[in-house]
Formats: sequence, structure tokens, C-alpha cells
Amino acid sequence: MVNKSFSKIIILISGSGSNLQSIIDNSDNIGVNIQSVISNKADAFGLKRAKNAGIATKVIERKQFATDKDFDYALIRYINTLNPDLIVLAGFMHILTTKFINTFAGQILNIHPALLPKYKGLNTHQRAIDAGDSKAGASVHFVTNELDSGEIILQRSVPIDLDDNAATLAKKVLEQEHILYLEAIQKVLQR
Ligand code: GAR
Repeated sequence: MVNKSFSKIIILISGSGSNLQSIIDNSDNIGVNIQSVISNKADAFGLKRAKNAGIATKVIERKQFATDKDFDYALIRYINTLNPDLIVLAGFMHILTTKFINTFAGQILNIHPALLPKYKGLNTHQRAIDAGDSKAGASVHFVTNELDSGEIILQRSVPIDLDDNAATLAKKVLEQEHILYLEAIQKVLQR
């Protein structure tokens, strides 16, 4: 039975969904009820993770729509039927429109694999290595209309070792992401 004091969240994914899995595994501890997992990719492995946990899933693909705007309107319409407290982007690889972001202002969280404000966008780990940084990490932030630039809620870092490459660094950072997202969701829900 769902505890009525739990916060309602939906999670948007595009791929593996390991961050999703961490939230599923710890949902009782952090006091969230995952209403639905939305993917913009029909073959995202994260959909299987959600189904295995008995969570509703919804696939809404960009190619079903003529424009980004139409796609985001479809997302908005579906999300409005659920009325979640928080919208959690977990490896959701699509840049949302202003309309979407304004509709849910202050309710959208994203996890980004870099110590923002460094390395917005893609290829974050290679860029950190190429720059000779001594540490890398991940950030959870509110989503605003400027890419990867909203208020940072929490960060976690890992050292970059001399023998690290983008793949080994991504693995180390991802382990920290799984803890970071739980901490950040709790922090936002306690505000
Ligand atoms: C994570 O590393 C997340 O930080 C990154 O995608 C990965 C998803 O992994 N997100 C972005 O790059 C967003 N710009 P997961 O599907 O296993 O959770």
C-alpha cells in the first residue's frame, strides 16, 4: 500500500536507467512513490527495470511528432494526468522546450555527469581528462531554460587517476551518481 505522505515523482529516461534503479531500490527510504517511468526510446533498458518493479511505463518518442514543441506538449499532457510533485530526469537525452520547463518550473531535476558549472553538454569525462583536472564528478540541479545551468542542489566528486580513461571515469562517477540522486531528491523534498 502506498503511504499517503510519500511524494509523487515521475522519472524520465532514455537508456540504461541505472540511476532509475537506484531510486526504485531506495524509494521507501527516501519517501517517494514513482508514479510512472517515461522513456523517449522504446528500447531503453530502463523500461525493463521499471516493469520488473511493477511501475507504470510510457514511451513517447520524438519521431511520433513533427516538432519538438508537439513532442513536449505530449509529455506535458501525460504528466498533467499524474500531477507529480517532482519530475526527475535520469539520463534523459533530450533538450526540453521552454514551454515544458515553464510549465513545471521548480519541479524538474536533472543529473549531469560533471562538476557543474564545468563541462555542460556532452563528453564530460573526456573533457575533464583532457583538461588535466584532478577530480571529476556529478551534479544534480534544477532544470531551467539554459542548458545544465539551473541551481545546483548537490554534487559528488571522485579523483581522476593517471590511468583513467573516459570509460573508467564514467563508471566511477556513475557509482557516485546513484548515491547523489537519492540525497538530492531528499534535500529538495525537505525544502
Ligand atoms: C548518467 O551518467 C547521467 O549523469 C547522464 O547519463 C547517464 C545515464 O545513466 N546524463 C546526462 O548526460 C544528461 N546530460 P543511467 O541511464 O544508467 O542512469
